[in-house]
Amino acid sequence: MNLRSLFNEHAKILQFNTAEILNELKLDALVIGAGEPQIYFEDDQDVPYRSNHHFRHWCPIEGPHHVLKIVPGQKPLLRLYKPADFWYDVKPLHQEFWMDAFQIEICDKVEDLWKNIGVGGLGRIAYQGPDRERATKQNLLVDVEGLLPRLNWNRVSKTAYEQECLVDATRIAAKGHIAAERAFRQGGSELDIHFAYLQATRSREIDLPYENIIALNEKSAFLHYAEKRDDIHNGRVLLIDAGANARGYASDISRTYATEDAPEEFRALLEDMTRMQKDICASIRLHVRMNDLHFNTHERIAELLVNHKILLGVDAQKAMSDGLTLPFFPHGLGHMLGIFVHDVAGRQINREGTIGENDPRFPKLRTLRPLEIGTIVTIEPGLYFIKMLLEPYRKGEFSKLFNWTLIERLMPCGGIRIEDNVVILKDQVRNVTREFLP
Ligand code: GLY
Ligand code: MN
Ligand code: MN
Repeated sequence: MNLRSLFNEHAKILQFNTAEILNELKLDALVIGAGEPQIYFEDDQDVPYRSNHHFRHWCPIEGPHHVLKIVPGQKPLLRLYKPADFWYDVKPLHQEFWMDAFQIEICDKVEDLWKNIGVGGLGRIAYQGPDRERATKQNLLVDVEGLLPRLNWNRVSKTAYEQECLVDATRIAAKGHIAAERAFRQGGSELDIHFAYLQATRSREIDLPYENIIALNEKSAFLHYAEKRDDIHNGRVLLIDAGANARGYASDISRTYATEDAPEEFRALLEDMTRMQKDICASIRLHVRMNDLHFNTHERIAELLVNHKILLGVDAQKAMSDGLTLPFFPHGLGHMLGIFVHDVAGRQINREGTIGENDPRFPKLRTLRPLEIGTIVTIEPGLYFIKMLLEPYRKGEFSKLFNWTLIERLMPCGGIRIEDNVVILKDQVRNVTREFLP
């Protein structure tokens, strides 16, 4: 199916789901605002702008101020802001693939976008977006109880159009990952690798769904390392966590590479982690719970730590029950992925918005729910040598089970994270990342 048909199908599903929500909440219509640009405190410079995620769900056009009104049984009304401007270039609209799904009105003044937007209901038109003041002035209802959780709930299962956005975001990111690996192997600094990524993806930083994590050597032990050092070259280990954006949807991909100069033990560990990550992806089945997958990943990591003699005199089961994997794998196995990199409703267990009980084993997991059809999640096991987390174990009751000599040898390598994006389908779990980065 081409993009236009995919999008029209997407819009139909959204229209159906929204009508259901409006009916449940006894509302006549829903208005969604794209949002307004922000400026830095007391400055005249704009903060990088992103439209309201609920708006993005409906329409891929970027830029502030647009307003969307959804009334059951009618084609949604989309008021687009296109000012006459000589300070900034305003991109012309051609026959965009998404246009058929809306009744479009072009406005060159922000006030016109909002004119009479509250007309047509019996005072039961809800608003979801950041421009609350304008919405209130138009008699729209802000903060309707139960609206946000329902909108978020419907976001978890991605339409075929949204899955295609992930595919495109992956295609772009894969080019960056290939170029980044090359720059690393040529001895580039973190900054060089970052520029190679941007160049290959034809992205500006502002286009990326999240800040690139590009860490050489020991810095790969910082989970969200954001520096880009320029003074360190010829790294032995690279951990790169970088994605791309397609029509407002993110990919979120991590790879770890080691050169011949990295300690042999680290390279062996990387090989086994790579195999393990692929095995986890292959083990995913419809309805499986992320916390169970996460628990199972800890079991696998326990085995790896024992097999690689990082833990000594203990078997994997005992290592697991004593919590010895925790300092090595301190984050979740994965999260929902979509418009947000850490997408909405991962902990929500029903459409009304109940947040699930945390698994007491892992109280910080972002994703509790079973993987239903259309869910997109990341699968990103990691294994790190983080001084801050290991130090208490050095002094603790299990200290003698840790091979501190080996751990110290591995600390300058930082850590490993391998992250793919998978789509849960009816009869298949599709690892989109491996289609582009096998
Ligand atoms: N890139 C952030 C994450 O993997 O969650
Ligand atoms: Mn991730
Ligand atoms: Mn990531």
